[in-house]
Amino acid sequence: MELLFRPRRLRQCEALRKMVRETHLRPEDFIYPLFVSPGKGVRQEVPSMPGVCRLSVDNLVAEARAAAELGVPAVLLFGLPTKKDETGSEAASPKGAVQQALRQLKKQVPQLLLITDVCLCGYTSHGHCGVIAGGQVDNDASLEILAQVAVSHAEAGADVVAPSDMMDGRVGAIREALDERGFEMVPILSYAVKYASSFYGPFRDAAESAPAFGDRRSYQMDPANAREALREAALDVEEGADILMVKPALPYLDIIAQVAGEFDLPIAAYQVSGEYAMIKAAAANGWLNEEAVMLESLLAIKRAGADLILTYFAKQAAALLGK
Ligand code: PBG
Repeated sequence: MELLFRPRRLRQCEALRKMVRETHLRPEDFIYPLFVSPGKGVRQEVPSMPGVCRLSVDNLVAEARAAAELGVPAVLLFGLPTKKDETGSEAASPKGAVQQALRQLKKQVPQLLLITDVCLCGYTSHGHCGVIAGGQVDNDASLEILAQVAVSHAEAGADVVAPSDMMDGRVGAIREALDERGFEMVPILSYAVKYASSFYGPFRDAAESAPAFGDRRSYQMDPANAREALREAALDVEEGADILMVKPALPYLDIIAQVAGEFDLPIAAYQVSGEYAMIKAAAANGWLNEEAVMLESLLAIKRAGADLILTYFAKQAAALLGK
């Protein structure tokens, strides 16, 4: 048989495969999410996220340093409050866990880029990402508070702020507040396209942020919608976002590809807690090869168009890639 094209010719040996490989994962692709707990000596594993712990600042510094030493350039900080209230007031406190972590990390791991999650859900008694008025999440009243949170992070040393609340207009409100306070060089990594996903379940255990009533479908996006993702991203670009994020990642590769095709800003994708938990659980049962599936899923996210990947596997993947 005469076959002109034999794609297998270029798959014969690792040297050839390496030369024609289109996508490469590197430790500098990753951003490592960390949960900061108040107090001292805290290291509490999240049951639904094996290997992920809530850490007090003392333990967090060591974890962040270990990631940096493996070549991971950035962490994303989520905070836990000492007490929650209606407006999530501790989120903007200079004494908050995130603000304290920022000051310590800047001092002790200066080469690490510090990104903070700007949201209220971990800090409000009702667990919603904004403030409540008349039983609803009040969009415009939430903007001012979110802007104060972002400014408090910048004041404590955040290099980048990442709003995840999905209120309309929050990128613009945060940009304006940062600029007014002299933080015009602090970029905004916007959770531009964030779906109302059931894959966030384990995270809500970690951050104790499940809504006390209702759900997040009045502000996060409907998983059925793709064209709306482009609209959401376009609004954030107009408001001054510097990096656009799509979240979750693996179930939304089509969205990552479309957003990357449409916009010329860097694209980030968040491999969320549920994606992590599925791989960990299957691996613990001996049903999947953890390392292979971890790398394949991260590669797929990058191939789809993500320049940056937020992943709880950051340290583990960087260690493997560096071998
Ligand atoms: C806060 C926030 C969430 C995540 C990141 N920021 C949870 C949510 O919206 O309910 C999810 C991260 C993950 O699942 O790993 N708004």
